[in-house]
Amino acid sequence: MKKTDRSVFAGRAASSQKIRLYTSSRGPPGAAKDVTLMVNKIICGDCLKVLPELGKAKMIFADPPDNLGVKYEGFEDQWESDGEYLDWLSAVTHLGMRQSRIFWLSYYWRWDFPLKAELWRMGIDGRGWQDRWAVKPYVWWYTFGQHNKNDNGSCFRPMLRFKKIGAQIYPDAIREQSARQRNNDKRANPGGRVPGDVWDGVWQESRVCGSFKEKRKWHLNQHPEAIIERMVKLSCKPGDLVIDMFAGTGTANRVCRRLGIDCIGIEISKFYCEKIAEETGAQLVII
Ligand SMILES: C[S@@+](CC[C@H](N)C(=O)[O-])C[C@H]1O[C@@H](n2cnc3c(N)ncnc32)[C@H](O)[C@@H]1O
Repeated sequence: MKKTDRSVFAGRAASSQKIRLYTSSRGPPGAAKDVTLMVNKIICGDCLKVLPELGKAKMIFADPPDNLGVKYEGFEDQWESDGEYLDWLSAVTHLGMRQSRIFWLSYYWRWDFPLKAELWRMGIDGRGWQDRWAVKPYVWWYTFGQHNKNDNGSCFRPMLRFKKIGAQIYPDAIREQSARQRNNDKRANPGGRVPGDVWDGVWQESRVCGSFKEKRKWHLNQHPEAIIERMVKLSCKPGDLVIDMFAGTGTANRVCRRLGIDCIGIEISKFYCEKIAEETGAQLVII
């Protein structure tokens, strides 16, 4: 078991922790980044309670349970009704937006209908929201999707990006080989192209199958590092903070550690939290 810190969110300690989360990794302007000062934490608790206690992050990622009955360790993915699940998903979305400048939500395709209808009712559409947010739908199209020989199997997961107007993004950081480059077209930009809003491209972000090296066998559901890496590179620079509301196997912690970005994962299962701390060296915070 790694270091624990139970006092972090109690009373006054909460506000000093907020300040520390933002300053601890920065150092003097222009100084080389000291990786030992990077924030890499995993907080064991309910993200709806933990997140309001943290300071704001540049990016928040949410890959919530889908209400499909998956038996996670210490958590059952089954709400009493679809309506209750959707109320909860809506609370997750509002909180993620409130606490970040860029909020990414990855969700099951069936929830696309009510989720977008609710956003529409609130006045959030593709043009933005009250001049404060720009909302963009994405599709993660994956290989190793469902095979259904009687119909078309499901091979994609919808994602939404909520970006505060003025929040900086870094499209050059995620350039990929263009179709012109692959076809040896002389007109090709040697720097490649900025990918569009359907994420498959040359990265071929497959689902993480049981036989893959990347797969953590102790967890039932895992996003590929390639997808999270794209989101983080597009949204952040070193010194920024990423919060993953549903850490699962700690994909965001692993990616951020590699990229030199500060990261706090929140996960309700103590077993998963301990695994993440063990693997990534993240400071384990139990509240
Ligand atoms: C779909 S998995 C996330 C997988 C993760 N994106 C990854 O790549 O490993 C959802 C996770 O959310 C956790 N969880 C469920 N409810 C939670 C809550 N209220 N707060 C924090 N974590 C929660 C579950 O234990 C599960 O590990």
